[in-house]
Amino acid sequence: MRDRFELRELDAGGRIGELQIPRADLTVETPALLPVINPNLVTISPRRLADEFGAELLITNSYIIHSTDSLRERALEEGLHELLDFPGAIMTDSGSFQLSEYGEITVTTEEILEFQRDIGSDIGTPVDIPTPPDVSRKRATEELETTKDRLELAETVDTGDMLVNAPVQGSTYPDLREEAARHADGTSLDVFPVGAVVPLMNDYRYADMVDVIAAAKRGLGADAPVHLFGAGHPMMFALAVAMGCDLFDSAAYALYARDDRYLTVRGTRHLADLEYLPCSCPVCTKYTPDELRALPDDKREEELAAHNLHVTFEEIRRIKQAIRAGNLLELVEHRARAHPTMLDGYRALLDHADLLEHSDPVSKGAFFYTSHESARRPEVLRHHARLERLSVPDSVFLTEGEPSSSGEYDESWNVVPPFGPFPRALSKSYPLTAEVPERTDRAALEAAVEGIARLVEENPDSEFTLGHRGWPEGVLAALPDGLETIDLTADR
Ligand code: GUN
Ligand code: ZN
Repeated sequence: MRDRFELRELDAGGRIGELQIPRADLTVETPALLPVINPNLVTISPRRLADEFGAELLITNSYIIHSTDSLRERALEEGLHELLDFPGAIMTDSGSFQLSEYGEITVTTEEILEFQRDIGSDIGTPVDIPTPPDVSRKRATEELETTKDRLELAETVDTGDMLVNAPVQGSTYPDLREEAARHADGTSLDVFPVGAVVPLMNDYRYADMVDVIAAAKRGLGADAPVHLFGAGHPMMFALAVAMGCDLFDSAAYALYARDDRYLTVRGTRHLADLEYLPCSCPVCTKYTPDELRALPDDKREEELAAHNLHVTFEEIRRIKQAIRAGNLLELVEHRARAHPTMLDGYRALLDHADLLEHSDPVSKGAFFYTSHESARRPEVLRHHARLERLSVPDSVFLTEGEPSSSGEYDESWNVVPPFGPFPRALSKSYPLTAEVPERTDRAALEAAVEGIARLVEENPDSEFTLGHRGWPEGVLAALPDGLETIDLTADR
């Protein structure tokens, strides 16, 4: 029973939640962003993160602190919050990432968890093994066994009221990820990061990232807070939130600034290539691109990092508002246009429409059909599944146009692509109040045909006639045999 995370609002797989962090005596609203602070290399001070950006959480690396004598002593004496001068909650990582980069580290899970506890971390992390994508199944399985052992070990460490992360590994094997998630969910640990996705994001493999998240979500309970470890580019937040991620950490804001790179929700730009600044944050309203370029290195890095953080937090707020308004998938669809690999990510999300359908509210604002991918949204899937439950008279006219006035049929139902058929009485209920373009597309027609086929197959004793507006032969060919069709646009 997990009572520290409460879901407040749902949309697709996305949610607004409240995570209680007892050690910080704080409840934070999710989706939330944790800026990464490298204690040896601070670009924007933690105090400024709190005051100017409203950061309630940050993440830093306890392994770096532990292995730097001066930092270790100060952290043990003054505490982590004092050391960093941050008033909010602090999550600490364990050195696992260093392990994956450099092959070995010098602490055990017990040591580093006790150290995290002793310095006052609010959310600690055991030493999981971040298995990279595409390794052999043997390696992924063996390393997962080690990660599972570490989580079980973490359960036995006296961590006080510090929350503890239970990272989910398993490389790119969906069944291993799902098994890892089910195991993590069965522990007494608190927060569930999906691990080792950084290589996928670095290679723009958003579809694989979505598959990895989906597999983890299938193994986790709906009430498990999910962190996407190492994911800091605002372009993919909406996609990841729609898959059910609640927490993100961003090192990108600082790392990219160091290379003169400027984040936008449509991708990264190099400062050298910008003739205009497409943003209204305090940095972008203060400088022209030339002025930014002319700043001394340190100052330019700081200003770029500040811009990068502004767009990152802005996107989190935009996503939360979209969840409240019930149009998160429209935002995802929009973001998917930023890059073909993002479109792959969105299409992969739609492959998991069954998973999203579980959490997606039955009713929300209005369904907007904004691309042919909209035809595969969970609402369409749900409508098709519901057709089975409708009671159907002996003869039905299914029509994109006006009801038949001939009295030839018992009832006349609406047909609206992509949903397909429904009784007129349902036309005021979500999602059938959808706004769809008048110039429909093949994907919507094909989805409507699937709905019709489902209805006809479920009701072999009823007779159906379809009145359509000029649907192409190829689309009509997928209709069940024997269904009579009338082209309402044909001359008579
Ligand atoms: N940071 C980015 N990825 C990971 C991961 O898989 N595990 C841990 N502990 N930290 C990470
Ligand atoms: Zn800006």
